[in-house]
Amino acid sequence: MSALKIYFAPMEGITDGILRRVHRDIFSGVDVYCLPFHKLTQSLSLTARETRDVDPEENAGLTVLPQALTRDPSQLLAWLDYIAGLQYRCADLNLGCPSPTVTKRGRGSGMLRDPGFLLSFFDFVFEHSLPVPLSVKTRIGFDDPGEWPRILGILAEYPFDHVTVHVRTAKEQYTCAKHPEAFDTAVREGVPHLVYNGDLRTTEDVSGLLARCPETEAVMIGRGLLADPSLARQFRGGKRASAEELSRWYSTLYVRWKERFGTTVALGRIKKLMEWPSEGDIRKRRLLRRADSIEGCIQAILGGCDGDGRPA
Ligand SMILES: Cc1cc2nc3c(=O)[nH]c(=O)nc-3n(C[C@H](O)[C@H](O)[C@H](O)COP(=O)(O)O)c2cc1C
Repeated sequence: MSALKIYFAPMEGITDGILRRVHRDIFSGVDVYCLPFHKLTQSLSLTARETRDVDPEENAGLTVLPQALTRDPSQLLAWLDYIAGLQYRCADLNLGCPSPTVTKRGRGSGMLRDPGFLLSFFDFVFEHSLPVPLSVKTRIGFDDPGEWPRILGILAEYPFDHVTVHVRTAKEQYTCAKHPEAFDTAVREGVPHLVYNGDLRTTEDVSGLLARCPETEAVMIGRGLLADPSLARQFRGGKRASAEELSRWYSTLYVRWKERFGTTVALGRIKKLMEWPSEGDIRKRRLLRRADSIEGCIQAILGGCDGDGRPA
């Protein structure tokens, strides 16, 4: 399992530079930290948040993958120049965002609705010599998994650095059924440089994927790393997070977020992050909702756990 490349999934509003650095310092195990998307505009003026997030100083010592959201190939090319100027080694295009506000403009997974448009988009992009390798993060269709062979066939025509596959359609959002076999088939057909994404929550989930599909080179993990930030380290044979490490994780994030955004935002971010370790636990969720300090939040999540962070 140790040769497996691990990407920390981009999660807008959660995985900012502070979280990336604190994660690396306490837990490590991740090869590439993915940046939430930059929503490109005609003028290519990024927001203050986007500009800071991609600033090399914000990402010092980390390997990161910036991401763009656009359906305009000229905007993408201009953004790739900007990313190359910051000396990043690869850049990603979002073909997966299922939010209706994004897809109704034909962006994110909205681009998957029209295979003809996808072809002309990437024909235009790859007619140019790219200043930095391009990757894509896609879903397996918009409405129906039956769309996947056509989408995969299109993506396989172009020299992407890698293709991350979230094994759901846009309609399936984040929690409905998923289709791991769509990934396995693509790997078996010899499509190179695929990254598996979707619900890898435990070391057993990853072992199961590798048993089914031993050729898997890389995985991307989002919510699994929020629920258990030591997951990538465990894949490398390292230990599970101790209660002390988890407490340090939350309190360091709180202090850094408070320095940057103030107390209210910092507490809101901590509570959003703690939605995952408290998933499915009504008692923890209730305590978390009522907590009005970082100590209260940590007590809600870790109270009743033994020194290894497991329920006592
Ligand atoms: C709150 C939230 C924000 C997200 N933001 C992005 C984003 O900016 N770009 C992107 O490609 N995917 C985004 N995603 C999708 C995740 O990167 C990932 O594909 C998804 O959570 C499935 O992986 P997981 O089951 O390991 O969490 C987001 C997901 C969540 C829950």
